[in-house]
Amino acid sequence: MNIVKTTSELKRTLAPVRGRERVAFVPTMGCLHEGHLSLIRKARRLADIVVVSIYVNPMQFGADEDLDAYPRTFEQDRELCEREGVNIIFHPDNLYPADGIKTSLKVDADDALGNCLCGAARPGHFDGVVTVVNMLFNIVQPDIALFGEKDYQQLTIINRMVNDLHVDVEVIGCETLRETDGLAMSSRNRYLSEDDRKRALFLQQSLQKIAENAKNGEKNCKNLIKDAKKWLKSKNIDPEYLEIRSATSLEPLDTLNEAPARIFIAATIGNARLIDNIALEHVTDNMINGATENITETLT
Ligand code: PAJ
Repeated sequence: MNIVKTTSELKRTLAPVRGRERVAFVPTMGCLHEGHLSLIRKARRLADIVVVSIYVNPMQFGADEDLDAYPRTFEQDRELCEREGVNIIFHPDNLYPADGIKTSLKVDADDALGNCLCGAARPGHFDGVVTVVNMLFNIVQPDIALFGEKDYQQLTIINRMVNDLHVDVEVIGCETLRETDGLAMSSRNRYLSEDDRKRALFLQQSLQKIAENAKNGEKNCKNLIKDAKKWLKSKNIDPEYLEIRSATSLEPLDTLNEAPARIFIAATIGNARLIDNIALEHVTDNMINGATENITETLT
């Protein structure tokens, strides 16, 4: 396995295989867990060469967010990548101009997609994400790139960026990997105390409740959300958002008949801001088997 720190080194390392072998790319911010590894395993199945980037991207963190505290566990990540048969880790120190991100040109995430849900509480976050992903695509020039549905809004915006900017890469969405009790795996779960870890489960359970109600015939989104919020309140949880939106355009829906729907939640539990989402139609399967439809099929 090659560990590469600079763009020129990466280009040199990839030059002999370019055009001859299929290159898969898994961008990450490190602190790898089974969720990341599921992307890497899928990448290995789909391509000959797997490149994983580990870069905590400053542009996607707000001034009051956890950039400095974001866990950096490179040695452990290196071992996991080695074990999973990754060919190249790209681990740059900095991808921005020497005088900082403020002088960098950036890619704007589409307003309708980028300012709702997580974007509402994190202004500029998705500009930071698509900017760095665009840079990384230019550097790695992969045939395919894998992203998790755990960050469904991010995946949707990246699909849009690839489409609108004519980036020559196939984006592949991968199902959310969960702990056995259903909690979506996340680097931020390590911030949870034992008690908060138990409470974190209510997020996913509230999504499941909405899905059950929908299955039992309630199609009005306001009613579905109202009931779930009431239930969360009884658990002392006040979500940052809990919304039902179109799975493709992310527009809010009044009723479930309008479009394929997805439920999105974010809430701060203890010290961790957690997010989760599920497809409404597939909820029972999703929770029990972890099976969801492939977003790229939905979006393209
Ligand atoms: P990071 O949070 O490290 O996530 C890297 C990738 O792993 C993302 O595509 C994310 O959706 C996926 N992932 C995280 N938890 C997952 C889970 N439980 N199941 C399946 N996939 C999961 O997302 C980022 O980094 C950054 O924004 C990045 C795209 C690297 C740009 O900086």
